[in-house]
Amino acid sequence: MAGWQFPGIAHGADYYPEQWLDRPEILEADLEMMVKARVNLVTLGVFAWAMEEPEEGVFRFDWLRERLDALHARGIRVLLATPSGARPNWLAEKYPEVQRVGEDRRRNLPGMRMNHCYTSPVYRRLTQRIDTELARRFARHPAVVGWHISNEYHGECHCPLCQEAFRGWLQRRYGTLERLNAAWWTGFWSKHYTDWRQIASPSSLGERALPALRVDWLRFVTDQTRDFMSMEVEAVRPFNPVLPVTTNMIGRLIEIDTPRFRDLLDVAALDIYPEWGSGDDAAVADAAAMEHDLTRCLLDKPYLLLETTPSMTNWQAVGQPKRPGMHMLCAMQAIAHGADAFMMFQWRKARGGFEKFHGAVVSHDGRDDTRVFREVAETGARLARLGELKGSVTHAQAALIFDWNNRWAIGACKGPREGIDPDGEALAHYRALAALGIDVDVIDSEHGLDDYRLVCAPMLYMLKSGVAERLERFVCGGGTLLMTCFSALTDESDLCFDTGAPGPLRKLLGLRVEELDTLYPHQRNRVRFAPDGPLGGMEAAECDFWCEILHAETAETAAVYESDYYRGMPAVTRNRFGDGEAWYLGTRLGLDALRKVHASLSARAGIALQASGLSKGVRVHCREKDGVRYLFLLNFGDEPGNATIPPCVNLETGQPAGGMMVVPARQALVFRQAAFHARD
Ligand code: GLA
Ligand code: ZN
Repeated sequence: MAGWQFPGIAHGADYYPEQWLDRPEILEADLEMMVKARVNLVTLGVFAWAMEEPEEGVFRFDWLRERLDALHARGIRVLLATPSGARPNWLAEKYPEVQRVGEDRRRNLPGMRMNHCYTSPVYRRLTQRIDTELARRFARHPAVVGWHISNEYHGECHCPLCQEAFRGWLQRRYGTLERLNAAWWTGFWSKHYTDWRQIASPSSLGERALPALRVDWLRFVTDQTRDFMSMEVEAVRPFNPVLPVTTNMIGRLIEIDTPRFRDLLDVAALDIYPEWGSGDDAAVADAAAMEHDLTRCLLDKPYLLLETTPSMTNWQAVGQPKRPGMHMLCAMQAIAHGADAFMMFQWRKARGGFEKFHGAVVSHDGRDDTRVFREVAETGARLARLGELKGSVTHAQAALIFDWNNRWAIGACKGPREGIDPDGEALAHYRALAALGIDVDVIDSEHGLDDYRLVCAPMLYMLKSGVAERLERFVCGGGTLLMTCFSALTDESDLCFDTGAPGPLRKLLGLRVEELDTLYPHQRNRVRFAPDGPLGGMEAAECDFWCEILHAETAETAAVYESDYYRGMPAVTRNRFGDGEAWYLGTRLGLDALRKVHASLSARAGIALQASGLSKGVRVHCREKDGVRYLFLLNFGDEPGNATIPPCVNLETGQPAGGMMVVPARQALVFRQAAFHARD
């Protein structure tokens, strides 16, 4: 079984020597500077197809072999990429049918990258061939430590081949048109299909009012992309079965159900470009943190951070260089969340092209005495000292459910109100937990729940089959569950439950939802906590956006609405179920109140905090290995911040530590705590 066997923490960048082959002095200088920057891994070959196969069937790999040898001689290892992310011009010219077709049914012209159809047999055949040629030559090269399959798979194609494949996918899913018609509720607006040929992908020129079609289309796009990746993995795998395989994913930026890639990956990987400086950096950090956790939870083990900028990102509205210290802090954030690699885009700035102003370790002037280079080198040196962290794992006791199907289904709804934002809702709960110093696993709704004490499933509108049963089992066995407004309305086909919300969770939550009141932006309500209820002691809090009108059946009322026609009716409830508790929040609370709710729930759930009294902007994370716990304190604020931690030693200085610690602004500290009992 292939696994990530890298010695220590990997540090490096995407490297594009193919842009500099006529400048041998630069190729040489790069190697020297990489050693200085403590680079021990580079990603090679992403987008190098035109250099590797300059004409159809003519392969040129000498330059690549030379680079691999030269890197190997310096002790730098390589993550070798398959080049399918961008096609050579000869391919586009000869086989125009590989170009993607948009939802408006217009075929793209040649150009750009990611402009290829995942269904096209020609594109598949040519990709498989270049991958095979690459693997045949280099899968056993001593520098190569893994496969970087393609680049940031994403996007969709609506060409006739994809339409055909979609219909085939639907036939396999539904078997008969009757079943499809029933699942898509096609009695509405005369949408009944009488022939499979009548079905086409959603389009702004055609069918855009059939939510279930939209959800199934995105499921198909995921499966087709996955199938393409699987073809690439099969092409390279036989040449060295122990070489681990990964692909760089972009988290919530894409409409791909990434957990479906799980079984293709030996190690998961993330690309991330946070907009530091765009607002409150602590908020930016939390949004990034959620992506890290989501990536770690794909395989529940250490992952690779494969791309982030060392400086600025040219495609953002404001391409602002990272402030001093921020790059190191980003590296420590990745490691704290469970990454075993911290890699950058890119090593050297290109002189031309779309990304010539994108941040890089080495700028156009080729110097290594710059602030950016210095900060990168310091980061590399620090990661080298933290090698013992490699392979340590996160044991989160809290989980947040984030599910792509749910996100799509909500996105496909017309109403009940504009601005419904499942991502924002998830992030609000994530932030509330993070501010308390709680490590969170970000999981999809099919992930196991046995390891958790607290599960938060915000706005889980669509309940895929089996999810209700799993949530019940979790609570019955002693878990604490928190669900929120706009949950459990539809089944896996996006059909509303004919028992109303919360459908099959009615017993578990001990309530039913009668109505959903949506509020205009200027409208507010308030919730008042029952003094003798399970959240007694909490101050009344403002709520907005929407308020569900709940009937508590077996649930106790923890808070009621203060005004409007549902004044005095439950807004927050708690239902004891088996050995656990199922909570329901029927409205939207501000971050402060949400944090208090989570503080109370996590304490009741018995979650042990590794640190307390965190200042704003300070975050705490743990990794564990061989009876040792590593504790990270990260400060994303502009001021020094505090946190109180148990007795331990500072991993880097060896000094005893513990009690109230001060974390300087934009810095990270790492501690080592020995001999603990797992999950104490
Ligand atoms: C993505 C791509 C890279 C590069 C960077 C720039 O992550 O994978 O090739 O374009 O963005 O930020
Ligand atoms: Zn296509």
